[in-house]
Amino acid sequence: MTDFRFDLQATDGAARTGVITTPRGGIRTPAFMPVGTAGTVKAMHPQHVRETGADIVLGNTYHLMLRPTAERVRQLGGLHRFMNWERPILTDSGGFQVMSLSKLRKLTENGVTFQSHIDGSRHELTPERSIEIQCLLGSDIQMQFDECPPFPISEEGSRESMELSLRWAVRSKQAFEEKSAPGNALFGIVQGSVFEDQRRRSLDELLEIGFDGYSVGGLAVGEGQEEMFRVLDFTTPHMDTARPRYLMGVGKPSDLVGAVARGIDMFDCVAPTRSGRHGQAWTRNGPINIKNARFIDDETPLDPDSPCPASSQFSKAYLNHLFKAGEYLGPMLLTWHNLNYYQELMAAMRGAIAEGRFEHFVAHFEAAQGAQT
Ligand code: GUN
Repeated sequence: MTDFRFDLQATDGAARTGVITTPRGGIRTPAFMPVGTAGTVKAMHPQHVRETGADIVLGNTYHLMLRPTAERVRQLGGLHRFMNWERPILTDSGGFQVMSLSKLRKLTENGVTFQSHIDGSRHELTPERSIEIQCLLGSDIQMQFDECPPFPISEEGSRESMELSLRWAVRSKQAFEEKSAPGNALFGIVQGSVFEDQRRRSLDELLEIGFDGYSVGGLAVGEGQEEMFRVLDFTTPHMDTARPRYLMGVGKPSDLVGAVARGIDMFDCVAPTRSGRHGQAWTRNGPINIKNARFIDDETPLDPDSPCPASSQFSKAYLNHLFKAGEYLGPMLLTWHNLNYYQELMAAMRGAIAEGRFEHFVAHFEAAQGAQT
């Protein structure tokens, strides 16, 4: 049995590249994890997700516990088999999604009770139940149960929330030790909003408890890129260099580049998939909206040099038509293209760090993003 391991291969400034080893395969870092909320990366065949270069996808405790239920997934052979994705899966713990999606939720010391956004049925999530569900799903990398506070929040409000997340971290670790399978990993989540002393305390106590990796939570909630980078600047230098660092729910390509420059190894975000379904395509020169009338007669593909069929084999005029006609293939092709673009960006960053030219890469990236298409 392969253990969960992280091997750092090279650093360049604060940026790092390496490999996370799991029993279900390796994860090259910096890594972008496509979001597969409900057991599917929306509008994508899993084989095509893999072909874009994804080593791991993300699943959600909250959605899967409501439908089709964790017990049913377990009975059907676990999430990997259920969705036909045999490589690693990371699951979020549910607290974040409860707060943004459910109705009539109530937070107590024990956990959160809430009504399903699907059918109004009542449920409870606690650290113990969240870990139990993540184990039933067969998740390779599990997240502690936490509270992601809104932004902005008072210093006192943030401290209370951060301390609750720390108590839930202890209970998550205990439950994980009782229920998890060999080779599974559990990550702690640093909270503390934009307050330096709180982030430091959260991190120090999580390090004391001891996790397989450490996430930075509570960001990309409206604070803006500059503020997010400021928080990373005073957080990542104190994180364990021997463990993976995961920035949750981030982000746009420029967020990824800036966060890698500050020492982050893993990301997840709905941006490439969600924006693809809405007609936005990411390109080397920044985002474009394919529904724009200027593409109506444009015979060029999104990227003629790409190995991704969605990027090289269909004209912008055709994609424009698909979106205008409301055809399913439009969202499918743009999601595919965007995921491929994101994975190419991650591969380019890994290469640049390994070769000690990351600073040059960043300058080049920023110049290209500013250019007009
Ligand atoms: N996804 C984005 N931010 C967060 C966070 O702070 N906590 C959790 N559990 N998931 C997230």
